[in-house]
Amino acid sequence: MSGNEIREKYLKFMEENGHAIIPSSALVPENDPTTLFTGSGMQPLIPYLMGEKHPKGTRLADSQKCFRANDIEEVGDNRHTTFFEMLGNWSLGDYFKKEQLRWFFTFLVNEAKLDPSRIYVSVFAGDETLGIPRDDESVAIWQELFAERGIDAKAVHIGSEEDGYEVGMQGGRIFYYDAAKNWWSRSGKPEAMPVGEIGGPDSEVFYDFGPTHATHPDFKDKQPHPNSDSGQFLEIGNSVFIEYIKQGDGSFTKLPQRNVDFGGGLERIAAAKNNDPDVFKVDLLWEVVKQIESLSGKKYEDNLTAFRVITDHIRGAVFMIGDGVFPANDQQGYFVRRLLRRSVRYADQLGVPAGELKNLAESVIHTYETHYGNLSDKKDSITDTIAREEEQFRRTLEKGLKELEKLSVKGTLSGEDAFVLFTTYGFPFELTEEIAKSRGLNVDREAFASKMSEHQDLSRAGAEQKFKGGLADHSEKVVQYHTATHLMLAGLRKELGEEVHQAGSNITGERLRFDFTYPEKVSDEVLRRVETFVNSALEKGGEVSIAMMPKQEAEADPTIEASFWERYPDEVKVYTMTGPEGTVYSRELCGGPHVQNFSEIQGKFKIVKEESSSAGVRRIKAVLE
Ligand code: ALA
Repeated sequence: MSGNEIREKYLKFMEENGHAIIPSSALVPENDPTTLFTGSGMQPLIPYLMGEKHPKGTRLADSQKCFRANDIEEVGDNRHTTFFEMLGNWSLGDYFKKEQLRWFFTFLVNEAKLDPSRIYVSVFAGDETLGIPRDDESVAIWQELFAERGIDAKAVHIGSEEDGYEVGMQGGRIFYYDAAKNWWSRSGKPEAMPVGEIGGPDSEVFYDFGPTHATHPDFKDKQPHPNSDSGQFLEIGNSVFIEYIKQGDGSFTKLPQRNVDFGGGLERIAAAKNNDPDVFKVDLLWEVVKQIESLSGKKYEDNLTAFRVITDHIRGAVFMIGDGVFPANDQQGYFVRRLLRRSVRYADQLGVPAGELKNLAESVIHTYETHYGNLSDKKDSITDTIAREEEQFRRTLEKGLKELEKLSVKGTLSGEDAFVLFTTYGFPFELTEEIAKSRGLNVDREAFASKMSEHQDLSRAGAEQKFKGGLADHSEKVVQYHTATHLMLAGLRKELGEEVHQAGSNITGERLRFDFTYPEKVSDEVLRRVETFVNSALEKGGEVSIAMMPKQEAEADPTIEASFWERYPDEVKVYTMTGPEGTVYSRELCGGPHVQNFSEIQGKFKIVKEESSSAGVRRIKAVLE
C-alpha cells in the first residue's frame, strides 16, 4: 500500500465517520509567534480547540504538512525527517475517548491491515500533584478492542522512561507512563507549559517491528519497552485528550469543551505496513532514493546518511518553496537555504553530478502532486529556485576553496579560520578538516567548536527577538486587539487605497503594532479618520463570521484582503466583519482567533504612533483604552 493510498484511505475513513476534510495549512503558521513552522496538525486549530466555532463543524480531519527545524541535524537514522505529514482528526467538544480509540484501532487493523498482535499502546498514569487521575477509561476501551481480536491485553505500570529500562515489558500490552511521556502539549510536559497553553493526557500507539530491530547503539543492556529508544517499537499515532488549560498559579483547569487531537505519522504507518522501520523505504521517499542511486552509481545500503539527508532535505525544500518560502539568510528562508546547501554537500560526497538537485525535486513533485496540487502549479518556480541556489552555493564553495588555499599557505589553520570558512563560505568543519589533512595541516577542532557555540548562542538570541510576530497568545485582550487590527486595516485601505497591505504584526494584551505597505508618512488627519472609522464601527456594533472558500474564488474577489496569498492552501478561511444593515467593514483571509461580536471589545481605539518601519513600509502602534 503506497503512502498516497494510506492518506486517502484515512481521510475517507474519517469522512465516513462524520468528519469534514479540511486542507493542510501552510508550513508557515499564521498569527502564531511561538514557532517558525507548523510542527503538528493541531497548531492551526488551536483557536477552535479553545472554543471558537469552526465553520466546518465539530469533527475535522486532514493531513497536515509539518516541518521540525530542530531535527535537521538528526536526519540520518531510519526515522528522523524534517518534513513529514501528520494525519489528524479532531473532536471540537464532540466525541471523546471511546470513539477515538476505536476508530484509530479499526483504521489500523481493518483499513491499513496491520496485525493487531504487533500493536502496543500507552496511557497516562495520572498525576497526584496536578490532581489529574489515571486514565483507566482508556485502558478499559483498549482492553475491549484487543479482546475483540482475541488478544488478552494486560495493563502494566511503567512510570518514567528510566523505570521502563528496569521493569521492561512485563508481559503487558497496555502501559501506564507518567506525564513526561503520556501528556501532550506543544511545549511538552505540564511543567514546561506556559500559562494559557492547552494540553492533556494522551494514548500513544506503537508498532512492534520485532527484537531484531532493537539495534540502537545505547541499548545493549537495557530492556526494551514500547516508549523507549530501542528501535524495536515505533510510535505511529497519538490520541491527545485536550481538556486542560494551564493557569497562572501552575494548576490546570478544564476547558469549556472536551477535545480530541489525534496525530499519526503517515510515513510511519506506511513503514509499519512495509514491516520495515526505515521510513526512507516508504514509496513517498523511496522514489528519490532510487534516483540518487542511479545518478551516483552508489547503493543506498552502503551510504545511508548521505542518501537520507539528501532525500529528506530536497523534499523539505520542495514543500517549503511550494508554500512561498524562498532561500534567504534569516527566518524561515534560512532553513530552506540550509536544506539545499547540505544537500549539495552530501550530493558531492556521493558523486551525484552538479545540477541534479532540481531533477530530484521534480521527482518529489511527481510523487506528491495528486494530493498537493500547489506543487504542480509551482513546479517551475520550485525547480528554478533549487537550481539557482545550487549554482550559487557552488560558486561560494569555489571561492571558499581559494580562501582555504590562501589560509593554508600560512602553514596552519586556526579554529578561527575554520569558523570564517564556515560562516562566510558555508564550509562544514568536516570539509575544512578533510582538505587541511590532505595538505598535512591540522585544524583546532576545540577552538572551532567554542567559536561555533558562541555564534549559536548569539543567533538563538537573535532568533528569539526576531520571530516575534503575530499574536503574543490567545488571551481575551489579545483577541480583541486582533479584531481591532482587521478593522484598522480596513480603515487604512479606505483612506489610503488598495495598495495598502499588511506587512507584519505583533499583538499583545497591551497594544497592537502593525506594519503595512505605504510609501510615505501618513498624515495626522488620516490617522484620526482611521480611528473614527474603527470607533464608529465598534459603537454601532457588529459581528464576525467565518467562511471557507476556494482560494481561487477568494483571490478573484477584490473585496477580500490578504497578503502572502501563496502561503494559503487551496481552500481558505475568510473572516468577515459586518455591521448593522449588512454593512461589511472588513473581509480578510486569516487563521483567527477573533471575537464573535464587537461588544466583546473593551475600550476606545487610539493610534499612538506612526513611523517608518523599513523602505516602503510604515508602522502603527495603537491601543484600546
Ligand atoms: N498533537 C499530537 C502530536 O503531535 C497529536 O503528537
